[in-house]
Amino acid sequence: MSTADDAPKAEMLDPPMLDPHQDPASLTAFAAYEQRLLAARRRFAESRFVTDVIGRKLDDARFEAFLMFFTALGVQMTRPVDSWIRRAGERCIAVGFTELGHALVKHAVHEAGHDALFEQDARSLVKRWNAKDSRHIDAAHLLTLPATAGVARYVQLHEETIAGPSPFAQIAIEYEIEQLSVTWGPHFIRTCAAVLGPDVSTCLTFVHDHVALDVGHTQFNRTQLGRFLTAHPASLAALAAAGAAALDAYGGYLSDCLELAAQRAYS
Ligand SMILES: [Fe+2]
Ligand SMILES: [Fe+2]
Repeated sequence: MSTADDAPKAEMLDPPMLDPHQDPASLTAFAAYEQRLLAARRRFAESRFVTDVIGRKLDDARFEAFLMFFTALGVQMTRPVDSWIRRAGERCIAVGFTELGHALVKHAVHEAGHDALFEQDARSLVKRWNAKDSRHIDAAHLLTLPATAGVARYVQLHEETIAGPSPFAQIAIEYEIEQLSVTWGPHFIRTCAAVLGPDVSTCLTFVHDHVALDVGHTQFNRTQLGRFLTAHPASLAALAAAGAAALDAYGGYLSDCLELAAQRAYS
């Protein structure tokens, strides 16, 4: 077991830099949103993913088992993403939020096929494990696991948002989740390399790609969210509720992966 000498610090919770080109009204509306998200972001920062995985409280085998569940179940978390964004955009257009709706529809294609990265990573991690451990793991089994409570909650949140009265809240969900890659991704990658060795990076293509890709996506989400809030200030509560629910559901999925890694007694 390792101890964390680079444990997450409070400054990691700081909101990202705001776009200096955003107009002042947008910045004000945006600040109100950020304020409402503080509690949910802190819950995530205090979740077992951060304290136990990034904080290196797991032994190496359990850490590796966590990665296998994280990537295998991650396929279910990411496969519908482009469809969710496109359908939310189409509903926004249908109910009159045309600017955001068109932006979402256009952006959806940038998320297509990312589940293939997670699937490839799950298979690579299983292969890596099986090459050195007699407790054989079947990749096909991991990739066909039923949705956990956290995964189901995350899927349900999207479907309810798309079908409900606030399809525009998809932008808050995207903003919070893609921002996780930017905020926590680099720490997660460093911990993975420290625990399992730098060669594990070849099994973490999803995370590596998203740490880079989601900088731009987060900027896009922030700009769209700011514009929407400025034009529709009454949407603040719905946006903040969806953003917080997305963080809680994503934290639930990560906790489920930790629970599975413990139950399967791979350590
Ligand atoms: Fe993605
Ligand atoms: Fe993205």
